[in-house]
Amino acid sequence: MFATMGALGLAPTAQAAGREQPFRALSASDFTLTGRAAAKVVVIGGGIAGLAAAYELGKAGYDCTVLEARDRTGGRNLTVRGGDTTVDLDGHRQTARFADGHYMNAGPARIAQWMVTLDYCRELGVPIEVFTNVNADAYLYNESTGMDAPVRHRTAKADVHGHVAELLAKATDRGALDGELTAADRERLVEFLADWGELGDKLTYQGGERRGYTTVPAAAGTPGVLLGDVPTASEVFADGVGRYFSFEFGFDQAMLMFQPVGGMDRIPQALTRAVGAHRVRTGAVVSKITDKAGGVSVTYTQGGRTKVVEADYAIAALPPNILAKVPHNLGSGVQSALESIAPSSAAKIGLEYRSRWWELDHRIYGGITETDLDVTHIWHPSYGFHGERGVLIGYYNYGADADAYAALTPRQREQRAVAAGVKIYGEKYRTELVSSFSHHWRQTPHLEAAWHSTPGGPDAPRYKPLNEPTGRVHFAGDWLSYTDAWQHGAFTSARRAVTALHARVLSS
Ligand code: ALA
Repeated sequence: MFATMGALGLAPTAQAAGREQPFRALSASDFTLTGRAAAKVVVIGGGIAGLAAAYELGKAGYDCTVLEARDRTGGRNLTVRGGDTTVDLDGHRQTARFADGHYMNAGPARIAQWMVTLDYCRELGVPIEVFTNVNADAYLYNESTGMDAPVRHRTAKADVHGHVAELLAKATDRGALDGELTAADRERLVEFLADWGELGDKLTYQGGERRGYTTVPAAAGTPGVLLGDVPTASEVFADGVGRYFSFEFGFDQAMLMFQPVGGMDRIPQALTRAVGAHRVRTGAVVSKITDKAGGVSVTYTQGGRTKVVEADYAIAALPPNILAKVPHNLGSGVQSALESIAPSSAAKIGLEYRSRWWELDHRIYGGITETDLDVTHIWHPSYGFHGERGVLIGYYNYGADADAYAALTPRQREQRAVAAGVKIYGEKYRTELVSSFSHHWRQTPHLEAAWHSTPGGPDAPRYKPLNEPTGRVHFAGDWLSYTDAWQHGAFTSARRAVTALHARVLSS
């Protein structure tokens, strides 16, 4: 009973004591038990944070209205399929031509196992499948270091680990670390390094099966032919391929990762259904937020007409850079906090091919080719294996690279991305192409950012007016979390806002 009261904000909680408080879903019984009534809430922004807020509030019977400026919900969770049309802020109009069943996730595209996003997939019945974030058979290619051909991830990794292990093992063996290690430690470290780097005689790296084969082992008579030309340590370090191996150590990027079957927007679609499509107004562009003594009024235009929603509370779940442009009476603390959050650029191009030549010719099934070209990352699709066609992500880039491509026409973007890919994969990258679609987040109406940089982190004092309600307006978004640029951040921020709002309603 006491714990329940705590969750409702009616008693001291674990959170108040500085410990993490698990989220407790709201329920209609919260009201029947306290004799209070659910309130009316207007949610501004139908991205993941806004939809999650309306969904969670809906569990307790709140009367929610979601205002979404774009023509569909999801916000930056955007899946592009054949027939989808976009017009960006520079006036570029594109219609995707992808064949049925093919798509690109222009925004979020991978989900880690620890993320609450997967809990929502489970709860909402959104099927998931593995997203291949790291593939030993994908390529690494650094043009600026003088590499004349791509190298397989596995080959570069074996060489980098092998040479680093050799150097460290030899130094250890010669006593260079005796000041740090006991004799037993030294022996154990050398033993570990010999295994980690596949070292041979005299602790020397000489290559081996980890690098791969020119002829793979098969039936009797075919023992396999190892890849030759093991590079020296100096050559491996000069190539700069070692920089790509720490990616998979990241807490948010480590395999396994997942994606919804059929496209990431299965998540906002399921949320929208759960909220109730009748509660969601798309094409509704908010033009004013007014906090009043007894409620909030939100003015918006839809189909050329100006309308107003009156509610008891509001949750502002739109990007900070957009919210900063909406007239409001929430005070200068809110405004300056919003203005201090900087929008970031990122972009993707989907390249649709008539054949899956990367599977047929290169034996690459999913995963990412890493480059130092301006396309940065090239993603092989983690769905549709062995099918006829497929959509590669020909660039996933950020910052200045994304801006440079944004300045081009969609056709020029395609040509530039294809020219980069040809350097790695050869001519089929050009000749098998059937269509493309590019998406740039800074140029996307009503979003104008891929993600945001929040100097000092979301708990910095200047963001206090956003982490607490201002009047009757609460705020939510991935940008108010420690996992900015992840749906997990949007979901957890929405839960936080909903918990605070509910506690307030129950104690009012
Ligand atoms: N979360 C984004 C990604 O995985 C930034 O690329």
